[in-house]
Amino acid sequence: MIVTFTPNPAVDKTILVPGLKIGAQNRARESHLDPGGKGINASRVVHRLGRSTVALTVLGGHIGRMLRGALEAEGVPCRFVEVHEETRLNVVLQDESTGASTRVWDRGAAVPPDAMADIDDLLAHWVPHAKVFACAGTLPPGVPGDTYARLLIAAAASGAKTLLDADGETFRAGLDGRPTVIKPNVREAEAVLGRRLTTEREIIGGAVELLRRGPEAVVVSMGASGSVLVTADRIVRAVPPAVERLSAVGSGDSMVAGLLIALAEGLPLEEGLRLGTAAGAATAMTVGTQLGTRTEIEALLPKVRMEVL
Ligand SMILES: Nc1ncnc2c1ncn2[C@@H]1O[C@H](COP(=O)(O)OP(=O)(O)OP(=O)(O)O)[C@@H](O)[C@H]1O
Ligand SMILES: [Mg+2]
Repeated sequence: MIVTFTPNPAVDKTILVPGLKIGAQNRARESHLDPGGKGINASRVVHRLGRSTVALTVLGGHIGRMLRGALEAEGVPCRFVEVHEETRLNVVLQDESTGASTRVWDRGAAVPPDAMADIDDLLAHWVPHAKVFACAGTLPPGVPGDTYARLLIAAAASGAKTLLDADGETFRAGLDGRPTVIKPNVREAEAVLGRRLTTEREIIGGAVELLRRGPEAVVVSMGASGSVLVTADRIVRAVPPAVERLSAVGSGDSMVAGLLIALAEGLPLEEGLRLGTAAGAATAMTVGTQLGTRTEIEALLPKVRMEVL
């Protein structure tokens, strides 16, 4: 079973505006509410692809109930700890004229000490069931910075393969948990390495450096340009087919789903990367944080190009 942990989930409100003007009154043409949060999205894609998963998370208030309802409607198994503060609502303003999206990520519901103890109990229950365990996204206020490292070490000790998908200080601290696989995008890799990665050569160099910090495999995703997988013995580039991009929010999470499936099934990681590349492209074709469907993912799969470098 693929177990994901998303301590700071969200509902994403995407508002489509033709010719968005910042600082002025705009009228939406269309809007969407979708579940958000990296591990939750990864679990949703895993579920769509017919594999067993549970999304562990923290929910609060009306928005928390909305998120829970949306996951139930999709049939995605979810277990959560309840907190008093409202789960966050993230806002994405998508300018339909330019395709650019302006995103405002809220800070998230604070986790008081008693809820943190409940989180530890929830994780202690599920981690031993995990063939694969993923920590994803930011930490909300109240969750200690070493939480991902601690959980990743516990999961590995109980025999699970692990994956970390996080940004900034959370990513850096999570690396101490020696995840099996990490999947930063270029910006996240740059932040942890403290330098710009502008060419593919530099990106591969950065991935090699990240590999020295302990993971067995590093996947750096580069949006529409695809991704590179770097391990101790090989470098592979995955190139997605050209698709009509509506919103790539959630593409990385969809790619993570493919990697988790490969880890769970003991497949070569390249196979997971191929599946994840198709899933990322399928998600890029959907509006807001909506995710690719199984049919779309399967249609794109044979069009993914894998190149050994
Ligand atoms: N416009 C696109 N066309 C085709 N494939 C795409 C596109 N955008 C993303 N993908 C695929 O999805 C993968 C992950 O996307 P990206 O690098 O944007 O992840 P990310 O920044 O982690 O996204 P997020 O965290 O918002 O889910 C890419 O490596 C690529 O294979
Ligand atoms: Mg990402």
